[in-house]
Amino acid sequence: MSNKHLTPIRHILREQGLRAPAIDLALILDRVSLAARRIARELTSAALTGELGYTGTTNVQGEQVKKLDTWANSLMVELFGDGYPVCTLISEEMEQPVHLEANCHERSYAVLFDPIDGSSNTDVDGPLGTIFAVRRRAPRHDAAPADILTAGAEQVMAGYVLYGPSTMLIYTAGAGVSAFSLDRSVGEFLLWRDRIVMPQHGSTYAVNEANYNAWHQGARNLVDHLSSHEDPKAHHSLRYAGSFAADFHRCLLEGGIYMYPSEVTAEGKSSGKLRMLYEAAPMAMVAEQARGRASNGKSRILELVPARIHERTPLYIGSAEEVALAERLGAED
Ligand code: AHG
Ligand code: MN
Ligand code: MN
Repeated sequence: MSNKHLTPIRHILREQGLRAPAIDLALILDRVSLAARRIARELTSAALTGELGYTGTTNVQGEQVKKLDTWANSLMVELFGDGYPVCTLISEEMEQPVHLEANCHERSYAVLFDPIDGSSNTDVDGPLGTIFAVRRRAPRHDAAPADILTAGAEQVMAGYVLYGPSTMLIYTAGAGVSAFSLDRSVGEFLLWRDRIVMPQHGSTYAVNEANYNAWHQGARNLVDHLSSHEDPKAHHSLRYAGSFAADFHRCLLEGGIYMYPSEVTAEGKSSGKLRMLYEAAPMAMVAEQARGRASNGKSRILELVPARIHERTPLYIGSAEEVALAERLGAED
């Protein structure tokens, strides 16, 4: 059977060994795919339609909100509100979860998302992403998200969209990682790569190195090691796009490591920048499903249980060898 014309929905309906019924996941992937196509279209014309720039407000994270953050968040809320099977939405851009009572059934799901990842790139035509994760809601749950605050290993599907020269949709539902590229002429994502395996070792690292002096010594040692010229085999090049989705995508395909260490402040240590539920944990599932790794510097990301929906974590993610090196050098000790 040819794989050439497989859309994400047809692809997931053929998969075996999924963590939730394929039909439910297909319905969710259908919404992600439509959101991605709408966002991709909006991004191509945003400069001319006045959609670039800031709204003038800050979000729950204390970050300045871009018009595109708000627009994409509203779009995703609208699309998942359409009906079964998603009854809870958690987003970087919303302080509280959205509870869609009409969609709550015996089997229903929460979708957790970062509508626009890499917002600093919107106004300079840089790469952007959308990150998403899907978790089951417990039977007879109420509006509170207590049953969603579990380890990332509980995720049933996760992935991201990368808005670069091509728009790519990458997902895993526990049976490997697949990538689809948007054919704009017909408006469909079509399978590009199936069962992606991340190289065990790569030649690049991605980090905001301007924060070097604020890191723990272990994280500095890691970057010193990766950038050292003493051992040609250990030497990596630096590639940093400022969008986690874009930087992770390079790791997925070519190996290497993306990191966002915590910073040592006068009051002690901060907890990093990236958010566990809709940035770190979904990408950790993709990484592990591609035989890569994701760690907070000490422990496997997918085993950590967040206490709050917007909890942050330090993150070291990518090739198994580089992530092991980060732990060995005590990046967060
Ligand atoms: P977001 O735009 O969703 O807030 O995420 C930005 C994240 C991530 O995409 C990126 O790797 C990192 O923040 C960039 O942060 P710095 O500007 O501190 O490097
Ligand atoms: Mn983000
Ligand atoms: Mn964002």
